[in-house]
Amino acid sequence: AQNERDSLFIVLNFANEYFKKQLFDSDEGRSIGLSYFKERGFNEQTLKTFELGYSLDVWDGLLKEAKKKGHSEELLEKAGLILKQESKIYDRFRGRVMFPIQNVAGKVIAFGARTLRSDKKQPKYINSPETEVYHKSKILYGIHQARQAIRNEDLCYLVEGYTDVISMHQAGVQNVVASSGTSLTKEQVQLISRYTKNITVLYDGDSAGIKASFRGIDMILEHDLNVRAVVFPNGEDPDSFSRSMTSDAFREYLETNARDFITFKTDILTDGGKQTDPVKKVQVIREIIESISLIPDGIKRSVYISACADLLDVEEQVLLSELNKLLIKKQ
Ligand code: CTP
Ligand code: MN
Ligand code: MN
Ligand code: MN
Ligand code: MN
Repeated sequence: AQNERDSLFIVLNFANEYFKKQLFDSDEGRSIGLSYFKERGFNEQTLKTFELGYSLDVWDGLLKEAKKKGHSEELLEKAGLILKQESKIYDRFRGRVMFPIQNVAGKVIAFGARTLRSDKKQPKYINSPETEVYHKSKILYGIHQARQAIRNEDLCYLVEGYTDVISMHQAGVQNVVASSGTSLTKEQVQLISRYTKNITVLYDGDSAGIKASFRGIDMILEHDLNVRAVVFPNGEDPDSFSRSMTSDAFREYLETNARDFITFKTDILTDGGKQTDPVKKVQVIREIIESISLIPDGIKRSVYISACADLLDVEEQVLLSELNKLLIKKQ
């Protein structure tokens, strides 16, 4: 019900204000959380823009404060902020830096929370569960801060993580959102398509990132948006890579390294064009035709088929007949 959604927004906003206050005003928040963000190179303005916070390393920091202010345990639980186990009740987020997840309008709907420990004993990130106001598959991290820039630039950069969005924003690239480490969904593509039809995928330079970028590219093509992709050096993500150079150099890198999806896939599957093995080449061609077959627009399909014929040096007719076989199978 609308009433329940409103109560959730209120308690989530309360929690967000509380976490921000801990980051700046508590000794623990300042010495642990704030120094962590500073070490990562986030400046004051960036902390404000993304409303970053800190959760104290205690069992009931938020719970106590919230109850004092009259928020019920039931509501806190529905908002995903506390956990109940038998007779125990405690904060979900403890001793972590906090990344509020906002809807398009800027209302806080959930949190991502990063541990500051580097041991592998606990997950790096803990996120809010699905709630009445938070549906992970329908939102993109950073959309509130990015939407105007996406419109202005007529382009949306898509990254994997919270810190990629934040570092890029600080480097002057504000048209950026994150899928937060999960496969891109139909609803997320539709959300971007309200602002632009052009997406450039910037996934981490590791095998998981490459796999995810292939799936993301197909999801984007299926919804008739234009997609490009950039590869980062192995082990780098947009956050680390942008911090390894000046902002100008980073923006220049994005512009000169954005490849159309055919070139991107070919480059990766042939290891930079070095592979001339015919067996491999056949695989690459099949992979690319499969992606092309997802594009609803027939004109675009035929343009991409020509491009693929040129790039891989195969007869256009052969590609077309293979494409048609795939299209018939789909009907
Ligand atoms: N993620 C998550 N839970 C995890 C690991 C990752 O929800 N246990 C999500 C987060 O949204 C994260 C994104 O997947 O931002 C990308 O993961 P990863 O590349 O591992 O983290 P980074 O964003 O690069 O974080 P950091 O630089 O702080 O290590
Ligand atoms: Mn705002
Ligand atoms: Mn990763
Ligand atoms: Mn990272
Ligand atoms: Mn990463």
